[in-house]
This record gives sequence, C-alpha cells and structure tokens, in this order.
Amino acid sequence: MTEDRKLPLIGERRRITLNGASIGIAWIRPEQLAAWSSGRVADSWLAPEEIAGLEALSERSVADRLASRLALKLLVSEEDAFADVAPGRIAARPGEHGRPDLVVAGVTALMPRISLSHSAGWGAAALCWEGALGIDVQHPRRGMRRVLPRLLAPGEFAEVDDDIVALWVLKEAALKAWGSGLDLPLRDVVVGPRDDAGQATVRMSLAASEWDAHASLVGGGMFWRDSGVGMGIAHFPSAREDI
Ligand SMILES: CC(C)(COP(=O)(O)OP(=O)(O)OC[C@H]1O[C@@H](n2cnc3c(N)ncnc32)[C@H](O)[C@@H]1OP(=O)(O)O)[C@@H](O)C(=O)NCCC(=O)NCCS
Repeated sequence: MTEDRKLPLIGERRRITLNGASIGIAWIRPEQLAAWSSGRVADSWLAPEEIAGLEALSERSVADRLASRLALKLLVSEEDAFADVAPGRIAARPGEHGRPDLVVAGVTALMPRISLSHSAGWGAAALCWEGALGIDVQHPRRGMRRVLPRLLAPGEFAEVDDDIVALWVLKEAALKAWGSGLDLPLRDVVVGPRDDAGQATVRMSLAASEWDAHASLVGGGMFWRDSGVGMGIAHFPSAREDI
C-alpha cells in the first residue's frame, strides 16, 4: 500500500457557497480519465462493490461511472474528516430512489451529502455537510429544444440554446437534491434569473402526491460551463426529514 493510497491530482475542483453552505465540486473530463486509465485505474482505488458494479456496464458506461467515482474520491479525500482514507474505502451506494449515499469503510460517523452525474465521458461529484444538494452535467445535444415543453414552468422561457442547457442542469440538480430524480416533472422546478457569477434562485413547487411534503422549497443554484459542457448545482438549506 504505497502509491495507490493517493489519487493523482487530475481533475477540476471548485468550492462554492450557496445558502451559506460550503460545497465542494470535482469533475473529470474524458481526456483526464483517459490519461488516468492509461496509467491504469488501480483496483485498489476502487471499492469491491464498485468493481462488481462495473462488470455489467458497457465500455462507455464504465468510463462515465469511473469518472464520477474518481471525482467523488478526490472530493472526499480533501475533507479533513477523511484525510487519511485510501480511495478504495470510499464508495457511493444507491439509497432511496437511487440517490447515492457516501460510504467510507470503517467510518460510522455522520456522512456528508453527495451527488453524482456523468455525461459523454465527463464525471462530476459534489459534497456538502449541510442541507441537500444535487449536481448535473450535460453535454449539449442536438434537439434539446424538443424537451422544452416538459422543461419549462409556466412563465419560464428559454430563448437560446445556452439557456436550455442551464435550465436543464439546474432543474435536474434540484430534483436530485430533493431525491426524486426525474420521477418528478422538471416543470416543478422554477429557476430564477442568473447573476454574473451564474447563481440563481431555485424553487421547487411540489404537486406530485408522493413527494408533497412541502408546498414549496427555495434554494440556490449555480451554472457554469467547461469546454461547452454545462454543469449545474442546486442546494436547499433544509429539506424533507428523510432526504
Ligand atoms: C437520477 C436521474 C435524474 C439521472 O439523470 P441522468 O441525467 O440520466 O444521469 P446523471 O449522470 O446526471 O445522474 C446519474 C446519477 O444520479 C444519481 N441518482 C440516481 N437516482 C437519484 C435520485 N433519485 N436522486 C438523486 N440522485 C440520483 C446516481 O448517483 C446516478 O449515477 P450512478 O448510476 O452512476 O450511481 C434519472 O435517471 C432519474 O430520474 N432516475 C430516477 C427515476 C428512475 O429511473 N426510476 C426508476 C428506478 S427503478
């Protein structure tokens, strides 16, 4: 156990504050994963359950899964609470409705919230100790305008392609923070205007019965792009008891 205890510091990192909460974000581009993989993704960087989970996936999905998991391990290993934890002890385990929970082998303390996303070889992870958060990465695709009818809330509009990607990732990030995924309509999330830093208010107005614990939940979102790929974070300061 020598060189594999630490991951190479490849990948992008940023720390933002939303609703007063500090959020760590890491993402890995396809070429960064390729650089890593050619230097091999060591088995000891992966938890046994992660290795088992890769077996059923296509090559493309393996790349996406690895990119998001390595981003997560980078983030977690930067937390003081997990400073000496080897990457192979860190994993994301699907919880209720598929929302990932952080597990660190041998650690039973309260865990931070995490969220994961992958798109076209990009992988991203976010971590926060307070509130609920979600992250979404989206490679712009042709034909995104076709999703507008199920994307836009009444009164919301998207004139240019950039806004479609921003709305998409912020809304999907909000639904992930809530824990529902796309079981709830994207129209139930309303994104306010973005400021110069890319921050916006994100409001969930829940109508669907199973999730109707609060009539409305107001949080913060941030949108940015890296090499044309859209990334969004949503954070809610408080949430349902069980999210
Ligand atoms: C979660 C969901 C929004 C993912 O969106 P996507 O754009 O396809 O994929 P992304 O790469 O952005 O996100 C995938 C990650 O979201 C996370 N995720 C899955 N369900 C989630 C949920 N309910 N809440 C928060 N995060 C969730 C997982 O970590 C997943 O990555 P993994 O499969 O590698 O662990 C979408 O698949 C969804 O709505 N799923 C729930 C509905 C569903 O599929 N129901 C059937 C369950 S049997």
